[in-house]
Amino acid sequence: MRVLTVVGARPQFIKAAPVGRAILAAGHTEHLVHTGQHYDHNMSQVFFDELGISPPEENLEVGSGSHGLQTGTCLIKLEEAMLRLKPDWVLVYGDTNSTIAAALAAVKLRIPVAHVEAGLRSFNREMPEEHNRVLTDHCSDLLLCPTQTAVDQLAKEGISAGVHLTGDPMYDAVLQNRDRALERHAGLLEELGVSAGEYLVATIHRPYNTDEPAVLARILTALEEVGLPVVLPLHPRTRARIEDLRTSGQLPALDRLKLIPPLSYLALLRLQSDAQRILTDSGGIQKEAFFLRVPCVTLRPETEWVETVSAGWNVLVGSDPERILSEAKTFQPPAERPDVFGDGQASEAIVRRLEEHTG
Ligand code: UD1
Repeated sequence: MRVLTVVGARPQFIKAAPVGRAILAAGHTEHLVHTGQHYDHNMSQVFFDELGISPPEENLEVGSGSHGLQTGTCLIKLEEAMLRLKPDWVLVYGDTNSTIAAALAAVKLRIPVAHVEAGLRSFNREMPEEHNRVLTDHCSDLLLCPTQTAVDQLAKEGISAGVHLTGDPMYDAVLQNRDRALERHAGLLEELGVSAGEYLVATIHRPYNTDEPAVLARILTALEEVGLPVVLPLHPRTRARIEDLRTSGQLPALDRLKLIPPLSYLALLRLQSDAQRILTDSGGIQKEAFFLRVPCVTLRPETEWVETVSAGWNVLVGSDPERILSEAKTFQPPAERPDVFGDGQASEAIVRRLEEHTG
């Protein structure tokens, strides 16, 4: 079996690492194509290095741009790669512009598409990712769901053929790398000047939190007011918007916020492990907080990862400064934390499903 895996953005490198290993371990061939959606060293190469992912066979270098330009460029270049490589499967992850472009290129060439993280929904049509997910699911041949909620959602949309509950390879990745992260980045807390259990980790990158200056300013101000050090690894977009805010004098002094460049996978895992709470608008980080048993305060009005909320380990606060402030200080999950993302062997389950469905 020959699998063409398409990745382009940080969360995809993380999930593709354990799945790629499982593909090779089962004696199959993986062709890895990187669209180049993320291209900065600390947004891309560092993940390949740390997670031991083989260098991509091709980097399409599509880079940044409007959604149409980025998706369209991926589509054109991926079609060429697929015609050249003629795989048995195109394997796509999540909800990025690279995902929908790869799925669309493949189905038009009649190459079967397998979607990892199928069935996720935020029901927020303002998010480009929501369109990417829905459309990718509706054209995929194999829908690999991380949770039962995702399977049920696809059934509601009339999709049942090729749907399988596999668990979440992001959980596999955390289990495989947690110890390595603690070892490799043993000195990180000291370097950052924080103590275990006495700091917060925050990440903000969603356009609806960053692109409106007043919204970003009120989130940052609320974080500053919590009274604990807050380590904030900055996505390039967020860094640019904060610089704009500073230039126009719209930000108060942010003495407790430690604004740092994006962290590698292992460094972030290490930092998350000992945080008192995590505040984020990322999907993947809500799950990592859950896996690491760290309370999560989500800076979004809704989430695709509803199990983390119903289990009491995640609370949604949007961008409301009062809610951010109070939950960042007090949010406390219950003692129990159910295992709803599989058994840490999702990657092997994904490969088995690919094998079963190979024509
Ligand atoms: C993308 C995904 C999002 C995912 C996120 C993970 C889509 C629609 N969005 O969002 O679902 O949660 O990746 O991080 O696919 N930039 C750089 N260097 C880089 C990459 C980006 O400077 O290496 C800057 C550019 O200014 C770019 C902006 O960040 O315009 C946004 O990058 P883009 O890849 O378009 O989307 P993300 O916001 O990263």
